[in-house]
Amino acid sequence: MKDVFTTVRERRTIRRFSAAHVEQERIVALLNEAAGLYEAEGTPHWRCLYFGTPESREELTESMTAKVTGSRLGKLLPAPMIELLKKQITGTPAHVIFIAESAGTERERDENYAAVCSIMQTFQLLGWEQGLGMLWYTDPVILSESFYKLIGWREGERFAGILEIGYFDKVPRGRKRTPPERSWTTIGEDSSQLADTTPFSAYNVLRLLNEAVWAPNDGMREPWRFIYVTGDKTEATGKQLFSEEAPSPPFLLVVAREETDPHKQNEDYAAVCSLIQNFQLLAQSEGWHIRRRIPEWSYDRKQCESFGLRPLERIVAVLEAGEPKRYSNSGFRSPAVKITIY
Ligand SMILES: Cc1cc2nc3c(=O)[nH]c(=O)nc-3n(C[C@H](O)[C@H](O)[C@H](O)COP(=O)(O)O)c2cc1C
Repeated sequence: MKDVFTTVRERRTIRRFSAAHVEQERIVALLNEAAGLYEAEGTPHWRCLYFGTPESREELTESMTAKVTGSRLGKLLPAPMIELLKKQITGTPAHVIFIAESAGTERERDENYAAVCSIMQTFQLLGWEQGLGMLWYTDPVILSESFYKLIGWREGERFAGILEIGYFDKVPRGRKRTPPERSWTTIGEDSSQLADTTPFSAYNVLRLLNEAVWAPNDGMREPWRFIYVTGDKTEATGKQLFSEEAPSPPFLLVVAREETDPHKQNEDYAAVCSLIQNFQLLAQSEGWHIRRRIPEWSYDRKQCESFGLRPLERIVAVLEAGEPKRYSNSGFRSPAVKITIY
């Protein structure tokens, strides 16, 4: 990525596209690049589908509007309104549907979902640098039997959203983000005011979070909260409670805030993943690396409560200072993206 700080801050959701053709090869290349930039523990399993030809977009439009056209409400809607909706979808040059694959455990399912959401965000940023605008679309109105059939949905899979893609003429104005200090709690010694420039110091983490909060998030709910844990906490309670290797302090718990509606819960989890991905890319551009994981103990309510989590809040990731991902030397290769072209 050319200039992560500028791109993260300046990327905007684009809802109006120009008619210019979007090249399929460019999309595939960007998807592979985005997947290669994902760094977290575990091997993520996800897949995507690409709709870029006029015929495939027609087919997608039919399935995305099946719920509206097939419902009683749809029958009451004036025909021009439905036509307008359809035109909007067929008129968007390219669509990529993202799906987290099923897995045996809740933790693995979350790892898959977190990966696909993070990769969607990197893909948006890489696209932005090449003049491509995107809209992350998750409205449940598109989810019908016909839609699930089209995407070949399998039991246990999670739909992460559609990225609607195109070139654009106008950039909408960004809406200000709340400074992360307002969603920040320290457990242990509070050193956030000290200009300590070591990589994972509270000062530096907050500095990067201040940029990372320019993540896409539906309804501008800014659904994140940050719990920064210094040495004292693990000394006091952590070590006896952790069922596996304790994170080494300081570490950051990135939390999705309370939300009762399940659809919004998913969207919020996705938004928090985008923020974390921004944070990792920003850190990487500064030459430091983040270890990102969803530990087993984050599924233990008692453990979560010991960090002050509220009933509906969830830990989305635990971040610590870490080592860079090793490529070819150690045999590690990012797997090719599973993409079905329509
Ligand atoms: C998981 C997720 C789902 C979203 N779903 C929708 C959607 O269904 N419709 C829509 O117009 N925008 C959707 N958005 C985009 C947000 O509205 C947008 O990110 C927010 O307004 C902030 O604007 P920005 O992306 O330009 O910073 C979604 C964003 C995320 C992360």
